[in-house]
Amino acid sequence: VRKRTVAGNWKMNLDAKGARALAEGVRARVGTKRDVDVAVVPPFVYLAEVARALDGSPVRCGAQNVCDRASGAFTGEVCAAMLRDVGASFALVGHSERRHVYGESDELVNQKVQRLLESGLDVVLCVGETLEERRAKRTETVVARQLTRGLAGVAADALPRITVAYEPVWAIGTGQNATPEQASQVHQYLRGVFSGLYDEAASEALRIQYGGSVSPANAAAILNAPDVDGALVGGASLKLDTFLPIIEAPRARAETQP
Ligand code: PGA
Repeated sequence: VRKRTVAGNWKMNLDAKGARALAEGVRARVGTKRDVDVAVVPPFVYLAEVARALDGSPVRCGAQNVCDRASGAFTGEVCAAMLRDVGASFALVGHSERRHVYGESDELVNQKVQRLLESGLDVVLCVGETLEERRAKRTETVVARQLTRGLAGVAADALPRITVAYEPVWAIGTGQNATPEQASQVHQYLRGVFSGLYDEAASEALRIQYGGSVSPANAAAILNAPDVDGALVGGASLKLDTFLPIIEAPRARAETQP
């Protein structure tokens, strides 16, 4: 049974004071809760401070992006070793805003995955189709390609450090979430692709988060849908009033209590 995981992607929002206050609020409320993995994903410049604010708590801190190179003359970039150095334990890669606003290819995403693993960081690999792709019935082709190319060269022993986030582009920041059935369908499909890339056991262990307009109103239905193992939350993660109810969404099925 896979443990539920809820992460808040703050994107390019908040200021230093707001970031610290939000991290402290999440920490205070999550306390030592162990039945859900909780993480926050601040902008690079607030990572160190947020990681300090979360030190000693079970709430993890991740980065929104990472450079595809290990170090050197890459002005403006931030490498995996630096993220680790300031207290991040994972990074998002292939977020739709990186793919669609900044033109990141599957090959670039794969390089980022490799750099994170080399530095001992965990990976949240984001995949998802556009509305046009969904209408053209290409959802499966697109997410299979993103998953397969994103994980190219990743050895089976690194798999415990990989989480996948299914984030349909049309659902991100639009208030139009995928239905629990739509999410389940794609998650099940991704699990099948993953099983073909690795094996059945790895595929059963893989955590797949859903992202795209998750809110307190729809969190329980989405989080309890078959094959949905958590949520990657954008807008609703910026306020305690909307993030905490998602973390605390009631469960319809038994899950691990480590
Ligand atoms: P949203 O963003 O919850 O604001 O739709 C989700 C994401 O992009 O991770």
